[in-house]
Amino acid sequence: MDAEFWHNRWRDSLIPFHKERANQFLKKYFDTLGLADGDEVLVPLSGKSVDMRWLRDRGCTVTGVELSDIAVRDFFNEQGIAASRRRDGAFQILEGEGIKLLCGDIFALDSTHAANISAVYDRAALVALPRELRVRYVDHLLSLLAPAVPMLLLTFEYPAHEIDGPPFSVDEAQVRELYAGRREVTRLESLDRLEDEPRLAERGMTQLQEHAFLLTGG
Ligand SMILES: C[S@@+](CC[C@H](N)C(=O)[O-])C[C@H]1O[C@@H](n2cnc3c(N)ncnc32)[C@H](O)[C@@H]1O
Repeated sequence: MDAEFWHNRWRDSLIPFHKERANQFLKKYFDTLGLADGDEVLVPLSGKSVDMRWLRDRGCTVTGVELSDIAVRDFFNEQGIAASRRRDGAFQILEGEGIKLLCGDIFALDSTHAANISAVYDRAALVALPRELRVRYVDHLLSLLAPAVPMLLLTFEYPAHEIDGPPFSVDEAQVRELYAGRREVTRLESLDRLEDEPRLAERGMTQLQEHAFLLTGG
């Protein structure tokens, strides 16, 4: 999955992962993150997710990181937020009303960008990456964050032979392996989701679960 793949998806509006409503698990488990008003939440591979608006409405400041400038522009337009724009090294940054989107590669994020992050919300980020990139992504994120920073991680699990990702199937064992020795992994809940993802069923998927994990450390 190179950058071109994602730029093409956004250019052609092939974005079935984008949902019009805030994620049910985010709403249900937000409080497990133990955040205070104004705390900053990192949303890696953010797309134009309305979950960022939901987090902001709950009092968080939000930092999203997203490759596609179409996604970033659309987010502010669709949310009716006037955004300022500036360049910061590898990133074009658009910012308004407590939401900052860094347009660029997550692997270019450095500790200066992550200095004030209080929590991470990963929905459809880990599962967007093929296995070798997943390992690199987790190592990179953990290299930037204090161990005490909690993460709410949502993944999909399905019979992996049924479709070519993304999304890729990431089960509990994989999550535990990826974060082994570095974060405590608690599975909060799992729900059948195939009915909500008809396009994946059309591609041949017969079972789909969404898992919610809380990752803690320090
Ligand atoms: C499956 S989508 C999920 C978007 C969002 N989290 C959501 O829930 O709607 C994955 C997103 O990651 C972005 N992306 C892929 N690789 C990236 C990278 N290396 N750095 C930043 N964004 C990336 C893609 O452009 C795409 O918008």
